[in-house]
Amino acid sequence: MRIDIISCQPDLLTSFFTHSILKRAQERQLAEIHVHDLRKFAINKHGQIDDYAFGGGAGMVMMIEPIDKCISGLKAERNYDAVIYMTPDGELLKQPAVNRFSLLNNIIILCGHYKGVDERVRQLFITHEISIGDYVLSGGELGAAVLADAIIRIIPGVLNDESSALTDSFQDGLLAPPVYTRPADYNGLKVPEILLSGNQPKIEDWRHEQAIARTKTRRPDLLED
Ligand code: ADE
Repeated sequence: MRIDIISCQPDLLTSFFTHSILKRAQERQLAEIHVHDLRKFAINKHGQIDDYAFGGGAGMVMMIEPIDKCISGLKAERNYDAVIYMTPDGELLKQPAVNRFSLLNNIIILCGHYKGVDERVRQLFITHEISIGDYVLSGGELGAAVLADAIIRIIPGVLNDESSALTDSFQDGLLAPPVYTRPADYNGLKVPEILLSGNQPKIEDWRHEQAIARTKTRRPDLLED
């Protein structure tokens, strides 16, 4: 899978993608991530990519021309299955959408800034608008990093233990059950007996019950869905 990210602060993203699981995914050639500096497509030699809003009001608006040049250049080289705009007024990101994105071949993620992008960018280029939560960030970069991370970690072969992505919270609509490691007794705080029993079917039943109980108390809305 190839992900192209368009940003006016590319340095924020580059270090994120050169670490841990995302680095491994790229080394194993399971994912390719390219970060593009929108300023390279600026309308003038001052690096301008934004301008005042028509009609007045505080805050700058990202201009259509640099974004058009960048996206059209990418589209001239390959087909894209989705062009995603990170924005607080987008659809709230949930695991089913992440799963769907992870099946695509090539996607573009556009990071917003300031007051957002000229509405015509959304009309002309954007196929999906995604928010990572009901709060406003100073730019779309953190959102793009969250989205790319969530997508890439579930591509088969990226995680070493294949089953672990499937047992994540949300994958079956439930939160994950509690987990423990050594020591079995920490200052009197004991690991539940069942987990030490070696009885795998019983352990799976216990985990499922715990997942349901945890979801009921913490996220009852997931059970209603
Ligand atoms: N840009 C600013 N706030 C955002 C949010 N909540 N989600 C995605 N992109 C954003």
